[in-house]
Amino acid sequence: MISFIGAGNLAHHLAHAFYAAGIEILEIHNRNEALGRQLSQAVEAQYIPHISDLSPADVVIIAVSDNSIQSVANQIPKRVSQSAIVVHTSGGISVSVLQDKEQYGVFYPLQSFLIHRSIEMRTVPIFVTCHNPTSSDFLQSLARYISDEVIAVSDIQRSQLHLSAVMVNNFTNHIFQVAHEYCKDNQLNFKYLIPLIKETVLRLEEGKTPKTFQTGPAFRGDWTTIEKHRLLLEKSPRSLALYNFITDQITSQ
Ligand SMILES: NC(=O)c1ccc[n+]([C@@H]2O[C@H](COP(=O)([O-])OP(=O)(O)OC[C@H]3O[C@@H](n4cnc5c(N)ncnc54)[C@H](OP(=O)(O)O)[C@@H]3O)[C@@H](O)[C@H]2O)c1
Repeated sequence: MISFIGAGNLAHHLAHAFYAAGIEILEIHNRNEALGRQLSQAVEAQYIPHISDLSPADVVIIAVSDNSIQSVANQIPKRVSQSAIVVHTSGGISVSVLQDKEQYGVFYPLQSFLIHRSIEMRTVPIFVTCHNPTSSDFLQSLARYISDEVIAVSDIQRSQLHLSAVMVNNFTNHIFQVAHEYCKDNQLNFKYLIPLIKETVLRLEEGKTPKTFQTGPAFRGDWTTIEKHRLLLEKSPRSLALYNFITDQITSQ
């Protein structure tokens, strides 16, 4: 039996995945009652208006914004935290914010979740950080109900994975945004770049290092083309700065 605090992007996907796997979801609390009730109804859980009214469960999953984890955890009643493993789901927040609980840990699915986008949860790696081997085994078994890739990691390793996730997701997406705006400014359709984006990512599944797949003018040392590109970006100083920074990174490898 598990309970959730939170009904946002991640709680939505986790609750649905556990429900589909046959795990009983006892209760869900969410600050916004309408969202909390909606998720509770979808996974046949009880909506609880106040954290202080939560019942004991095997695991309580705190899936709220990073900066609210501590204050939400402080509101969990003792009768619940005495028997439940209390976990949060953040890659970037230390497990130690829950250290006043008897059993505590982190349950971090490494993926970018949005409520309205479906995700194949079995392919999402779930990283478990836990101070105590029995609780860790329990959390790992729970994670295996919904994912084929469950890994125990230390607090620092999870932070390092989170940082890497920021680079591969947020940074690359920012570069997509820069290219998208550049195309738009020049009346070109960004959609023509999507097959290239897909191929760039699919190659990584071969298991070789990304460096093996690098191509392009910076990698070849083709300064004639680089200078042409710089001229094309003359009127976009921020994009030019990004182009120059990444070009320097590639040429100096
Ligand atoms: N989404 C992802 O891709 C992803 C992936 C891995 C890990 N995580 C982690 O999962 C956690 C939740 O992220 P999310 O993306 O699901 O967030 P989200 O969609 O923005 O939802 C935030 C949730 O936190 C609740 N909340 C915010 N401030 C609160 C407060 N002061 N008191 C009580 N509840 C509060 C919100 O309640 P209301 O509905 O009332 O606003 C909502 O349920 C975070 O720790 C995040 O780092 C997220």
